[in-house]
Amino acid sequence: MAGPAPGRRLVALALIVALAAGLPAAGVGQAPRPAERGPPVRLFTEEELARYGGEEEDQPIYMAVKGVVFDVTSGKEFYGRGAPYNALTGKDSTRGVAKMSLDPADLTYDTTGLTAEELESLDDVFTRVYKAKYPIVGYTARRILNEDGSPNLDFKPEDQPHFDIKDEF
Ligand code: HEM
Repeated sequence: MAGPAPGRRLVALALIVALAAGLPAAGVGQAPRPAERGPPVRLFTEEELARYGGEEEDQPIYMAVKGVVFDVTSGKEFYGRGAPYNALTGKDSTRGVAKMSLDPADLTYDTTGLTAEELESLDDVFTRVYKAKYPIVGYTARRILNEDGSPNLDFKPEDQPHFDIKDEF
């Protein structure tokens, strides 16, 4: 019979999974690599996120898209107090970004009933604007846990900050 025994194949698979997780690269006794690249991310409740709506001059400005909280302070001309997109900040504005709408009713995480085109546009802006331009500082609590406290299975590790597949292999 050609090829490795099933047991060996399993070990090989486990090794690949471990490599993908960056464990051997971090080495024994060393800090995990993501921790070296920036401050740790945190979870935001709606109330916490609401503190970062750009009202105070020296406070960072945060907003969430798809449950990922971005520090958009460097885009003050868009998001600062009195700026055109200030309404998007201090909350998860996924629906507004998907529909390109600043209607207060659309400034929510709720994507119910969005069209395929709007969802595509959302992913495009998420990737090409937010992930490309702004540091990730955390996730909304809602992104990680469902309302009943069970884990949200849609949470994907590729969205971890600083994740770069090229560094992992
Ligand atoms: C007449 C209507 C609008 C015009 C002329 C307009 C124009 C623009 C322009 C020129 C930019 C690019 C700026 C740059 O990269 O330097 C931009 C970015 C953007 N626009 Fe609009 N916009 C309009 C309405 C809206 C609305 C209603 C939304 C609602 C969500 C929106 C959301 C955004 C977002 C999220 C960005 C990216 C900002 C960033 O880079 O962080 N826009 N817009």
